[in-house]
Amino acid sequence: MKFIFIILLLSISMFADDFITKMEYAKMLYSNPRGIGCSLCHGNRGQGSVISRYKVKGKTKILRAPAINNLNLQEFSVALKTTHKVMPTYYLTNQEINILYFYVTSGTK
Ligand code: HEC
Repeated sequence: MKFIFIILLLSISMFADDFITKMEYAKMLYSNPRGIGCSLCHGNRGQGSVISRYKVKGKTKILRAPAINNLNLQEFSVALKTTHKVMPTYYLTNQEINILYFYVTSGTK
């Protein structure tokens, strides 16, 4: 009886381990950090995208979010810790920054 209970506990803890994978967590954080999702401006995998087009004196201007999947971790991290003109300031931990970096540079769909 005790043995069966231990087996049951072991299988529950094994299941809990894969309940959410690193990739699933990374994806979740990328699309829903504490604040507006990175994906809304930088595209679903950090490839960059057009945020909006507008006209100034009859000329079309394009507001873009740059690609962020081609930076090294240092550049990526510094950018997230500084304030920008368009991009909101996030107060992310180093661990969160690392996982976001992992997500945008892992290259899978
Ligand atoms: C409102 C749109 C918007 C959102 C949301 C946003 N960004 Fe940005 N991001 C930008 C823009 C635009 C720039 C270029 C700097 C500027 O003009 O603000 C930028 C710059 C960056 C850079 C620096 C790129 C470089 O070439 O140096 C990184 C890294 C970055 N963003 C990562 C992120 C991550 C990660 C998130 C989510 C936590 C995020 N951004 C959310 C618009 C956005």
